[in-house]
Amino acid sequence: MNPKSFIDKHKERMLNELFELLRIPSISADPAYNKQVAQCAEHIAVHMKDLGIRNVNIYPTKGHPIVYGDFLVDPDLPTVLVYGHYDVQPADPIELWDNDPFDPIIKTTDIHPEGAIFARGACDDKGQMFMHLKAFEILQAEGGVPCNVKFMIEGEEEVGSSNLGPFLTEHKDMLTCDTILISDTGMIANDTPSITTGLRGLSYVEVEVTGPNRDLHSGLYGGAVANPINILTQMVASLHNEKGEITVEGFYDGVEIVSDKERALMAQAPFSQGAFKKSIGISDVWGEEGYSTPERTSIRPTLDVNGIWGGYIGEGAKTVIPSKAYAKISMRLVPGQDPDAITEKFTQHFINIAPASVSVKVTPHHGGLPYVTQSTDPAYQSASAAYETTFGKPALPVRSGGSIPIVALFEQILGAKSILMGFGLDSDAIHSPNEHYGVFNYFKGIETIPYFYHNYVNQMK
Ligand code: BES
Ligand code: MN
Ligand code: MN
Repeated sequence: MNPKSFIDKHKERMLNELFELLRIPSISADPAYNKQVAQCAEHIAVHMKDLGIRNVNIYPTKGHPIVYGDFLVDPDLPTVLVYGHYDVQPADPIELWDNDPFDPIIKTTDIHPEGAIFARGACDDKGQMFMHLKAFEILQAEGGVPCNVKFMIEGEEEVGSSNLGPFLTEHKDMLTCDTILISDTGMIANDTPSITTGLRGLSYVEVEVTGPNRDLHSGLYGGAVANPINILTQMVASLHNEKGEITVEGFYDGVEIVSDKERALMAQAPFSQGAFKKSIGISDVWGEEGYSTPERTSIRPTLDVNGIWGGYIGEGAKTVIPSKAYAKISMRLVPGQDPDAITEKFTQHFINIAPASVSVKVTPHHGGLPYVTQSTDPAYQSASAAYETTFGKPALPVRSGGSIPIVALFEQILGAKSILMGFGLDSDAIHSPNEHYGVFNYFKGIETIPYFYHNYVNQMK
């Protein structure tokens, strides 16, 4: 098997095929794009069939459809289930893009001297998901597919995967596998491959603070009536103490304490505080006392306001004390924390700290459990050896700060661990304007994945 030479011969086509996929605006959050989301599922299904993948089926859900297909060679061989998502985040704010987010172009950047593909979903997750179909193509062309492969590509990851959990339960037999293979995370740098061994969980809530029963004249009433925006901002500010710790009662209960040994190992992964600050244009970092920046974004839980609104925000000035104020708040969770329990604790706390002059309502949104895996897992070993072949060095284990809620459910429902072979970089601007994915990363992923399969078959013998 020689993935490199196959890629060299088919580079142009493999890029064009990804471009076609990126041109479909499969924005799962916005119902205005439902048709395009369905069209994207259809496009992937057709491509899978063209590759010779069998039992290709588009499964409708209460939300967006799931694309499934498989290639089963021998029941005695191990089975790998590939998971990815074809839905993307909205492109807003669209005016901050340098090109049409759904008309991909290649441009070079400092980090991507070989060029990067600029489009919504280029890295998260169409580019990374599509690598798996191209890797499958290589397996077939270069000596045959060495084990059973199943593909499950969903269209609701960016909106919480709420229909995928029930789908797993309903189709448990169809989805039986030994391991799950996912490229929807990142790696340290193009010369420092890494494998994601942890994902944070998530609890997401919306809060509503109500004061007077209508917007009031701020001259006639101001000074005598609690302003819900003033109150909400005070309440939000009190959710962290001066040490950067979260003050929600019981928030840290059960949080897994990472050993000094593991922390020392983590500290060996290359990280530059200066480059970090520069890359996002901040003059200083912030966070929980006693933890490094990489620790703050991986092994520690967080609480952040994602949006806050209320009152008058139109042209000019309008003198009102608003009736209501709102905020959306996310909490990233680590092993030992349960999203439902955290949502409950937050709700109680938020009600407790509200002064009598306002009433508060907390509405839970989607959540997800955190996930960890061990570098002793056979799938990890197989992946690490694959990176060693294609990068010339083994991959470092790294815990990520992001969330893929379905990964914990894979373990609970299907009883299988996931191996997170992500090829994106933190600087790829996923969810942001000008999202991009390195051409190097795309092809390196396609080159590395086939070795994973061969190593895994040998590991499982
Ligand atoms: N692929 C990302 C998650 C990710 C990115 C993990 C980079 C690790 C490194 C995924 O598509 C995502 O955006 N997840 C959401 C959660 C979801 C419930 C909306 C997130 O992490 O905010
Ligand atoms: Mn993703
Ligand atoms: Mn995402």
